[in-house]
Amino acid sequence: MSRQILCLPGDGIGPEIVAEALKVLDVIKQLFSLDIEVSHALVGGAAIDAEGTPLPAETLKLAKQSDAILFGAVGGPKWDDQPMANRPEKGLLGLRSELDLFANLRPAILFPQLAAASSLKAELVAGLDILIVRELTGGIYFGEPRGVRTLENGEREGYNTYVYRESEIKRIAKVAFEAAQKRNGRLCSVDKSNVLEVTALWRELVSGMADDYSDVELSHMYVDNATMQLVREPKQFDVVVTGNMFGDILSDCAAMLTGSIGMLPSASLNEKNQGMYEPVHGSAPDIAGQGKANPLAQILSLAMLLRYSLGEIAAADAIEQAVGEVLDQGLRTGDIASEGCRVVTTAEMGDAVVQCLQ
Ligand code: NAI
Ligand code: MG
Repeated sequence: MSRQILCLPGDGIGPEIVAEALKVLDVIKQLFSLDIEVSHALVGGAAIDAEGTPLPAETLKLAKQSDAILFGAVGGPKWDDQPMANRPEKGLLGLRSELDLFANLRPAILFPQLAAASSLKAELVAGLDILIVRELTGGIYFGEPRGVRTLENGEREGYNTYVYRESEIKRIAKVAFEAAQKRNGRLCSVDKSNVLEVTALWRELVSGMADDYSDVELSHMYVDNATMQLVREPKQFDVVVTGNMFGDILSDCAAMLTGSIGMLPSASLNEKNQGMYEPVHGSAPDIAGQGKANPLAQILSLAMLLRYSLGEIAAADAIEQAVGEVLDQGLRTGDIASEGCRVVTTAEMGDAVVQCLQ
């Protein structure tokens, strides 16, 4: 039976970079004889314009039926006046919660050709390849009760609740252990178990799962130390697993070690290994429609889709390798341009990846 990919280009540069990823998918389907069907739907501002809502019922229905979603980006100044409940970003958040996409996978990979773009010294980041696994639908961002209340003395107090159930911890840890198995076999679980009960439970449960993954070397680190270590010696990490808030911060930090927002893909998975794959960056309205956008984060997101939701490892490897070759050839979009390189358009970059694959 053919597998279904739903394509949600969204707004701004979204449609431009998704078009390049689809060129790549066409070639990959031929090369690896993959039976994949692609459908398209509206999300974000594009959906607001056409249907008055950022996540139309039809889009959600197609999303639930698909094996994986290739998502571009949403948002832009055109919709800034929309009420909060009807902003383009609600399309993205709605999909995350409706599909229960609890596992956010964010690789921070430094392509050696781009070492100069990192904020760290070249020798610290050369060969950097980390995967941050962040819990995405629980923790303090979602815990109840929450709010701002007024105390008896008239002073106001803000409060949130940091809560994780056993099942939530175990399911994200499972994703991380399995990712480590497929990579270099090392998993670092990051918590604050010396201070927070919820993360002491986290550490206990993750430790308890280690026996089931004897091929993975598990370590634990407090989040403050992990932040320091990420900047001090990032290559000590392979896979990092952590809760929603720590993961939010750590994944941005790790991503920036690679220096280039146009290169960073991400995956958000649920328990059925259904996933949504998107670049880390937004819709870049400042460069939309000018052929300047870097399509590589979107193309690398497609590689993640093939790897994690469809299990097509060889196809994913081929795409990642082709991206490396294109960089070797000295082709660069503006965001990653450096001296001596040839600046190309969005479409030229996509074509170059296609050519390398062929
Ligand atoms: P942004 O990531 O869209 O852009 C930040 C800067 O990076 C801009 O200068 C942009 O030109 C550049 N940039 C981003 N992607 C690039 C690419 N592929 N190639 C070359 N340059 C690139 O973030 P910003 O400006 O804060 O947000 C713009 C819009 O995107 C807003 O409406 C925001 O809400 C939305 N957004 C959507 C996200 C999503 O759909 N997942 C995530 C982040 C922001
Ligand atoms: Mg963030």
